[in-house]
Amino acid sequence: MIKVAGQYVSKFGELWDKDIKDLFAESLYGVLQNSNFEINQIDAIFVANMNAGTYSGQNHLNALVAEIAGVNIPSYRVESACASGGMAINLAYLSIQSGQYNNVLVIGAEKMTDNKVGDVTKGLATAGDEEFEGFYGVTFPSLYAMIARSYLHNYNLKSDILGLPSIKNHFHASLNPNAQFQNTINLEQVNNSSLVSDPLRLLHCSPITDGAAAIILTNDKSNKSNVEFVSSSLAQDTLSLHNREELHYFKSTRIATQKALQSANISISDVSVAEVHDCFSIAELVAYEDLGLAKPGEAYKLLENGDTYLDGKIPVNPSGGLKGCGHPVGATGIKQVAELYQQISGQAGKRQIQKNLAYGLAHNVGGSGATCSINILKNLN
Ligand code: COA
Repeated sequence: MIKVAGQYVSKFGELWDKDIKDLFAESLYGVLQNSNFEINQIDAIFVANMNAGTYSGQNHLNALVAEIAGVNIPSYRVESACASGGMAINLAYLSIQSGQYNNVLVIGAEKMTDNKVGDVTKGLATAGDEEFEGFYGVTFPSLYAMIARSYLHNYNLKSDILGLPSIKNHFHASLNPNAQFQNTINLEQVNNSSLVSDPLRLLHCSPITDGAAAIILTNDKSNKSNVEFVSSSLAQDTLSLHNREELHYFKSTRIATQKALQSANISISDVSVAEVHDCFSIAELVAYEDLGLAKPGEAYKLLENGDTYLDGKIPVNPSGGLKGCGHPVGATGIKQVAELYQQISGQAGKRQIQKNLAYGLAHNVGGSGATCSINILKNLN
């Protein structure tokens, strides 16, 4: 049995007084302290990051984190755009399953706000197809705008529904002291916010964020954690949008979800809380359908009925998601699992879900759906 032994999430936001080294150091020592681990008990380190080479002038992050930790153990760097964190967890999990390691640290950070927004946008665009997208000036807001247009057209829906995930996620974030945004928003504010890429407005977009997160996975039977890590899967779709069969769903999410649920021996109705990848609000709506939480074209109903709010049937993004909590890309997938751990172990403070949680699912996407990671946790109590 593999367990999550503990977690640490830094404050997310514009952290002017911290560089990428500070962010790694803070979460490294934070997770060791929260999990009652000494660094010499860790067998390997998995470091998630997307763009520190351009954003912070620092590559070779596996060595950087090992130096901060003062250890000579194997340390791996994992990059898969915004799914770097989910993929690092997947590899860490497999490394324990293989029998190679017993205790592993998974840590991710991104320091984005030191750069001009245009440079950040250009860096993020490298997660798409450079030849057919980036070269022509296509950015991530515009890729997801195309997905949103296709979705609204296909199901004959009005763009107002795009505001629903943002409103919920800002509300959840207002209860999370680590979140970038602490303010609630309403539909009027969303619809009056600046147009970024039609139909996506500012309040449909996740922000540019600094932040870090870490978890420790262990196969130590005597570890007191009540959170089992039961399954982890990855799937790919085409890097470019134009090679997809359709734009209004993500094949990678559908395949990874099926594999992860099968391996955990559960169905989606057993999942009691989820953290999903809402880099743009359309992504959360599409995720509900690809995960099997809603029928095609009906995702908005879950939000209208309050089903995915903290006190709803299946709370989604209790952390505030990428929209409200922030999206330091290399840290996001790890923060999602850290949030599920806090919810399942009853340590989520004001945003604690007030019911017994059986399973938690984390859905982390890289690019415009080219990579999807699904990680599932189980409550042993
Ligand atoms: N949601 C809410 N408020 C936001 C915001 C967001 N996404 N982005 C910025 N703001 C706020 C800022 O806090 C600031 O508020 P203030 O004036 O009260 O201080 C104000 O809007 C202007 O901030 P600024 O940094 O000038 O925004 P911008 O217009 O340069 O950037 C976006 C806005 C949408 C372009 C930027 O957030 C972005 O690119 N987001 C997408 C990131 C992305 O693609 N991630 C990868 C996903 S796959």
